[in-house]
Amino acid sequence: MEVIILPSIEECANLGACMVSELVTSKPNTVLGLATGSTPIPVYAELVRLHNESGLSFSKIKSFNLDEYIGLSPDHSCSYRYFMKEHFFDLIDIEQDFTYVPNGMVDDISEECSKYESAIKKCGGIDLQILGIGSDGHIGFNEPGSSLSSRTRIKTLASETIRDNARFFDDEDEVPRHCITMGVGTILDAKSVLLLAFGESKADIVAKSIEGPITSMIPASVLQMHQNVTVLLDDKAASKLSRRDYYRDVYSNKPDSY
Ligand code: F6R
Repeated sequence: MEVIILPSIEECANLGACMVSELVTSKPNTVLGLATGSTPIPVYAELVRLHNESGLSFSKIKSFNLDEYIGLSPDHSCSYRYFMKEHFFDLIDIEQDFTYVPNGMVDDISEECSKYESAIKKCGGIDLQILGIGSDGHIGFNEPGSSLSSRTRIKTLASETIRDNARFFDDEDEVPRHCITMGVGTILDAKSVLLLAFGESKADIVAKSIEGPITSMIPASVLQMHQNVTVLLDDKAASKLSRRDYYRDVYSNKPDSY
């Protein structure tokens, strides 16, 4: 796990976008795993800028989003499909047919989940999965207690997540209670992972996830088992890491060839 700590969200977003852009340039048919929430917004904004100003093309990529609320139609302003169109898909040259977001409106949820898993496999797997982290340690919507080998399935949102996400809705009661989410096992199958966390409110859970024991009670902690994870943190999100000076040292002395 490489932990990179930078002073500001802007610098993290620029580096995160640079990593995505290098991958997409070297492998134009990259399969990206995407997240919603506030954290990746500045990364998407920087990628849109690179598309507009430097010709970065997404025309051959495919994307799979981590999750979607059950019961919100794609044109509901709080659905994750809507979020992705607003912040990314409609602003770049991606083929809309190759943007996969679970459909939370289907009757047969379990069929939708198996179809999602099959579609990821058919595309050759996810090359780079972008992740945020919930204040309770969830990745995707894998809440504490999720099986560490789980696959795409229905989950019930934890009350902490409902409270956290209420800011996107007019009222907390409007936050759906259920979602479809890639499983922890699905996320671990990605060839590489970029976990982003910004701000003081994430400092506690970031420290537990990176430096604490691996436990299903903090699903993000399982990323310690993945061979290719980069964690991008601003100073505030990194403030409770006991080995933050070491991580800074490693990054500033990183040899060119590695
Ligand atoms: C979103 C997702 C969630 C968020 C997490 C953090 O697709 O899967 O795990 O990444 O809830 O949300 P923010 O970034 O809003 O703090």
